[in-house]
Amino acid sequence: MTGGNGTPVFISVAELGQRPDEDGPPIAGPASYPPEVTERLAADAATIIARYPQARSALLPLLHLVQGEDGYLTRAGIAFCADQLSLSAAEVAAVATFYSMYRRRPTGDYLVGVCTNTLCAIMGGDAILDALQEHLGVPAGGTTEDGAVTLEHIECNAACDYAPVVMVNWEFFDNQTPASARELVDGLRSGRPPEPTRGAPLCSFRQTARILAGLPDPRPKTPGGPGEATLAGLRVARERGMSAPEPTS
Ligand code: FES
Repeated sequence: MTGGNGTPVFISVAELGQRPDEDGPPIAGPASYPPEVTERLAADAATIIARYPQARSALLPLLHLVQGEDGYLTRAGIAFCADQLSLSAAEVAAVATFYSMYRRRPTGDYLVGVCTNTLCAIMGGDAILDALQEHLGVPAGGTTEDGAVTLEHIECNAACDYAPVVMVNWEFFDNQTPASARELVDGLRSGRPPEPTRGAPLCSFRQTARILAGLPDPRPKTPGGPGEATLAGLRVARERGMSAPEPTS
C-alpha cells in the first residue's frame, strides 16, 4: 500500500491470539465417557436440542453441558457434542476454542474473574488482581491447591457502572477493593460463599455450567431491576433532554 506521494505506508496491526493466561489447543482430558455418563448426558442433550429448529444450533449450550460434567472441555466432551449434533470434532473444537467461557483446563469450584478493562482498571481492577494473585498464591489462570478457586483475568463484564467488578461463576460482586476481594475468596475457600451483590446465590462452577446449558435453575428467584448507578446516566440524559437517534431503515 502506498500513500498519495507514492511512499509506502505501513499499518501497525496488533497480533491477535489467545490471552496470555489461557491454554491453547489441543483440548486434552479423557477421550470418551463411560456408557452410563453418555446415556445421562444424552437425555439432557435431547431436551436442549429439541428447543432448536436445527440441531447444530444447540452447540453452545451443549458445550456448557459437557463443561458441567468435566469442569472444562475435554476430548470426551467435544466428541459427545459432535456425535449428538452430527458435526465433526474439528467443527466443534473450532467453535469451542473461540469463546473464553469454555475452559481448557480443570476449573475450581469457583471461577473468580477480575475485570481489568478500562473503567475497572481506572477504579482499581489491576490492584485487585495483583492482591488476589498474591493472596491465593496462583497466577491468573491458575487454581488453588484445594481446588476451590480458579483465578481468571477477564475483560469487561458489562457492569462498568459498578467498577471495579469481580465475578464468581458469572455472578456479580460490585465495587470491590483488594481487601473485599480477599475476604470474598476466603469465604469461597471456607465453604461459606458470600452472597453476590445482586442476582442469584452462588452455586458451583459445574452447576453453573448446567444452568448456562439451559437446564433447570434450582436457585431461588431474586428480585431484579436496574440499580442506582445504572440509572444515573439515564437521569442525566433526561435532565438534559438527550435522546437516542431514531433508527434508520
Ligand atoms: S470495564 Fe470492568 S465491567 Fe466494564
